[in-house]
Amino acid sequence: MPLLWAIRDIVGLTGTKFGCGVSQCGACSVLIDGTLTKSCSMPVSYAFGKEIFTIEGSSPNLEFLREAWNEGNVPQCGYCQSGQLIAATSLLDATENPTDKDIDAAMSSNICRCGTYTRIKKAIHKAVALKNESI
Ligand code: FES
Repeated sequence: MPLLWAIRDIVGLTGTKFGCGVSQCGACSVLIDGTLTKSCSMPVSYAFGKEIFTIEGSSPNLEFLREAWNEGNVPQCGYCQSGQLIAATSLLDATENPTDKDIDAAMSSNICRCGTYTRIKKAIHKAVALKNESI
């Protein structure tokens, strides 16, 4: 069983989405022990004993990103946004002040059919600003 279905159907956390099912879209992104992972193609057995962080979780970087996402009205249809937020959380966990190039590289495996990429990039910069203001 892919981890995605264990998260959604057994645990009941439905924020993580099924998009392509073949590791191409990023809708199913989660963090496994802090590593960005596409849960649709990860066997659930791989996750035993590991920390799984989903969009239902909370971390300082995810909270700054949520605030920036809301301020910037980032989502359009919204379907991909939980995966986008998890990928952005992974980026901010690894990089304090990402450049546009860093953001493009980190977010390149998360597809948005509505084309919200410009708003996503702006919101990531805003989240960094919010974080820096809070220090
Ligand atoms: Fe997993 Fe698309 S549903 S990458």
